[in-house]
Amino acid sequence: MDAMIVRGGRVLNGEVEVSGAKNAALPLIFSTLLASGEHVFFNTPRLNDIQSACQLLNLFGCETKHDGHVLRIKVKPLKSLEAHYDVVRKMRASILCLGPLIARYGKAHVSLPGGCAIGTRPIDLHLEGIKALGAEVAMENGYVVASAKKLTGANVLFETTTVGGTENIMMAATLADGITRIENAAKEPEIVDLANYLNKMGAEISGAGTSIITIKGVSSLKAAEHEIIPDRIEAGTLLIAGAITGGTVTVKKSRLDHMPAVIEKMCEAGFSIHAERDAITIEKAATWRGVDITTAPHPAFPTDLQAQFMALMTQAEGTSVITETIFENRFMHVQELVRLGANITPKTRVAVVRGSRGGLEGAPVMATDLRASACLVLAGLAAKGETKVNRIYHLDRGYEHLETKLQRLGADIQRTGNGS
Ligand code: UD1
Repeated sequence: MDAMIVRGGRVLNGEVEVSGAKNAALPLIFSTLLASGEHVFFNTPRLNDIQSACQLLNLFGCETKHDGHVLRIKVKPLKSLEAHYDVVRKMRASILCLGPLIARYGKAHVSLPGGCAIGTRPIDLHLEGIKALGAEVAMENGYVVASAKKLTGANVLFETTTVGGTENIMMAATLADGITRIENAAKEPEIVDLANYLNKMGAEISGAGTSIITIKGVSSLKAAEHEIIPDRIEAGTLLIAGAITGGTVTVKKSRLDHMPAVIEKMCEAGFSIHAERDAITIEKAATWRGVDITTAPHPAFPTDLQAQFMALMTQAEGTSVITETIFENRFMHVQELVRLGANITPKTRVAVVRGSRGGLEGAPVMATDLRASACLVLAGLAAKGETKVNRIYHLDRGYEHLETKLQRLGADIQRTGNGS
């Protein structure tokens, strides 16, 4: 299995370009099931999760072609409406095919995703929403079997804010009879990007980006073209890479307005950040303070940057209290950071980090999930000596050539095939 070898202590400086957002691309790819024709997405990142989504579409009978960063999806009459376990277990976001399939074809057979390293991650809210629109839903042999003659618009109030649930219901409602109102909707930039594309296809969606989204059903949609938004989680990771090594790094093609809480917390820690057109620069700082963060739905601090921010806090002056409110098991990186010498006390959903600049020493560590992998690479950049991050395949699900981007900034980082 591939591993990443990081030799820490280099200061990262320079400019780097962020890729398109994985979490925007995935729902967009599944939204194509709503309309025949050729859909074209520019700025599509080349990632394992994108490949898995395309593989699923191919099994349905679509043609996908990913050339450079342009993804073309030709949707023809589907030959299968089944999302098989083998694909869904690799990528949970496959559940996003449920809404489009039931809306356009009146049927869907989608494997339940199963457990996940960061928490149980149920899909009950997706199913309740689909049922509210009039679908019948049953569980058969580990599969969700949904059917409906025609979906009907309804009020869907999510008890918990859910990104995937909001996306699934928004897509399903585009072709329903009448008006759907999603309350307590997720407000992430990826939701707005999806609504923008659906509207280009002919949908009538308003309110995306607020907690109430209204969808007026239409009779059909058509294929369109779209430029995917930049990945705010990758942008945050690259800014932290500059910060943790004491360097000045400019992240090009990124959007400051997509990451308000991250920027606010970096500034509170003592970093100077400025934006010019579509580039964000973090200025070098000799020291920074420990600050507290609590993850919560957008626009609050994203859970997908919690692990990376924790790596930064291990090098801060003072204490940082990190509270995770989205996923119940998202501190798997803590024990790995402790192996590198970090002083962290984890409780169930709170970790207390006592920072000390230069306190980390390289060691072999194990990546447990996508964002934890990035956290360990960042910690390795700040550690003395060599850190070997094993199970780096997690990283390839969501970061496009992270090591190449870090090398260009001056990092000593190499991929090797000898990890465990
Ligand atoms: C998306 C992101 C993921 C991010 C997460 C939270 C994608 C492909 N993935 O995941 O990177 O970490 O948002 O920002 O966009 N929940 C339920 N029942 C449900 C659905 C969710 O209880 O039916 C709970 C989850 O267990 C979790 C919370 O709601 O505790 C939020 O999850 P959700 O926003 O749905 O996350 P995802 O869409 O899976």
